[in-house]
Amino acid sequence: MHIRRANISDIDEIGTLYKDTINTLNSKDYTKEQIVAWTATYNNEAGWIRRIEEQHFYVATIDDIIVGFASIDNNGYFDLLYVHKDFQKQGIATNLCSTIENKAKEMGFDEITVQSSITAKPFFTSQGFIQTSEKKKEINGVPFTNAVMSKKI
Ligand SMILES: CC(C)(COP(=O)(O)OP(=O)(O)OC[C@H]1O[C@@H](n2cnc3c(N)ncnc32)[C@H](O)[C@@H]1OP(=O)(O)O)[C@@H](O)C(=O)NCCC(=O)NCCS
Repeated sequence: MHIRRANISDIDEIGTLYKDTINTLNSKDYTKEQIVAWTATYNNEAGWIRRIEEQHFYVATIDDIIVGFASIDNNGYFDLLYVHKDFQKQGIATNLCSTIENKAKEMGFDEITVQSSITAKPFFTSQGFIQTSEKKKEINGVPFTNAVMSKKI
């Protein structure tokens, strides 16, 4: 596995991974209505470009295939973490998390915060994140409740 910065040319592959992972993994924890609203954001090209340009956005690759991605913004907010549906439980998210933590330390932060999905909460807990509150939000008008979790680094 190799981890590198994401490029604008990765957007199609990132969007497809995101849609497929939500449909396969997150669909176990969310309603059909939520999954439809969530996946509808997969081809938001402007959103992907903004994140790649403004955040510290990394992709994990195996044989040049993108198998996961993660991003952190300039405020120490751990924004995205998705692993390819066919590459789960191989340590890819753990590696991406280390990359994000190292970047956060390099930026001078001693804590990182994530708004975790229901699906990812056990993973973040195993990585040492502790829930501090809940965050209610809407995607395409459909309500979601995420767990706000922090980790001292
Ligand atoms: C949550 C998510 C990111 C985890 O990705 P992952 O790459 O499967 O995570 P890892 O492989 O690093 O770790 C997952 C588990 O697999 C275990 N594992 C790691 N390598 C393994 C291997 N080779 N064989 C078996 N198990 C392994 C880890 O110990 C870990 O177990 P734990 O959670 O009990 O500690 C992934 O399931 C995902 O994309 N979920 C959907 C998207 C999502 O909700 N993202 C968050 C939005 S906020």
